[in-house]
Amino acid sequence: MPCWRGRQSGRRNCCEKHLPYHLAMKAIVLRRTGRPNVLKPTDVPEPRPGTGEVRVQLHYSGVNYAEILSRKGLYAWAPERPYVLGMEGSGVIDSVGAGVDRSRVGQEVMVGTQSGCYAEKVVIPEERAIPAVPSFAMEENAAFPVNYMTAWVALVELARLQEGERVLITAAAGGVGTAAVQLAAKLGCEVYGLAGSDEKLALVRSLGSRDALNYRASDCFARLSSSAGGFDVVLETVGGRVYREATKLLNPFGRLVVAGFAGLDLKKWNPLSWWWTWRDMPRAKLLEMAESSTGVMATHLGYLLDDPARLRAVFERLRAFVTEQGVRPVIGRVYDFERAGEAHAYVESRRSVGKVLLRH
Ligand SMILES: NC(=O)c1ccc[n+]([C@@H]2O[C@H](COP(=O)([O-])OP(=O)(O)OC[C@H]3O[C@@H](n4cnc5c(N)ncnc54)[C@H](OP(=O)(O)O)[C@@H]3O)[C@@H](O)[C@H]2O)c1
Repeated sequence: MPCWRGRQSGRRNCCEKHLPYHLAMKAIVLRRTGRPNVLKPTDVPEPRPGTGEVRVQLHYSGVNYAEILSRKGLYAWAPERPYVLGMEGSGVIDSVGAGVDRSRVGQEVMVGTQSGCYAEKVVIPEERAIPAVPSFAMEENAAFPVNYMTAWVALVELARLQEGERVLITAAAGGVGTAAVQLAAKLGCEVYGLAGSDEKLALVRSLGSRDALNYRASDCFARLSSSAGGFDVVLETVGGRVYREATKLLNPFGRLVVAGFAGLDLKKWNPLSWWWTWRDMPRAKLLEMAESSTGVMATHLGYLLDDPARLRAVFERLRAFVTEQGVRPVIGRVYDFERAGEAHAYVESRRSVGKVLLRH
């Protein structure tokens, strides 16, 4: 894809880097933190794959909650700025570096990585370009890696979910939440979901949950405990009151896995919010856990990237399961790449469901 500045002016070179325009591409480089409008496409040199790397021409990129935190300067796992945002996407391998089988050129893949996917092209170690699920459309492949791996790792690898168990998913209409509801239902569990609006509750029910409740209602947890009783497994991604109440709902031998804290609202300029954040951060209380014979665990997919062999084995189990069970990702909305700021604002508004994508 030629550089848009070059195309607009009719010149052969990109005005920013003076590169021949076939060597430039559009990318969203996070140079400073701030509101969604800091996300502007600029021209950058096309990356070239080195030894053991491949380059993927992206068709879609996923928008992740972690990228919103990164944009605000609140994400500990983010690389040092400036860098190109974007942890996942789907597309086609268009070139490979030394040591990589040349027959991979032209392969349709999904990408899971730390950064670089808010761009036309991304260079990654070859093991992070995972063959696309053939039964998925390109959009679905982009919506798959982060949400489904997170839900699977939490429910299956950590909580060791068993058929027939009772499962509670918080933020059940979000990206990780919809994946978790689908997977737990297909694993033969009795699933309950919590979400923040009637539309979201309807979606969660349509994905195979026994019931869904609005946790913005003050009596939600009392109603849940009287109607549904206890839970064997909870996947928790909100924090604060939701985490505290959910721990009380665990049956003996119950397992709660923390995979996020979307409800924490840290504002660097507001010292009061530092206190709220500290108060609402989930904590494991060993004495209470001993009294109830329950367990609290946590996961962060990013740190598993350092263990590609383990990640690959988990991914293959997940891929086989979704293919066999006919699970398909929920895609809430697709934005053109240039509108990444609007996509972030939409996810932050809490109105989004499933995965929000950027189209290149
Ligand atoms: N551990 C990992 O490796 C991993 C990987 C991916 C994501 N995560 C984490 O998992 C969480 C969910 O990610 P996601 O991509 O599924 O995001 P998402 O689709 O945006 O879902 C997040 C949902 O959290 C709920 N929420 C509750 N309180 C909120 C608040 N104060 N502000 C914003 N949202 C609030 C909202 O649903 P309701 O309106 O229904 O409450 C929102 O839609 C995030 O914390 C993310 O960082 C962790």
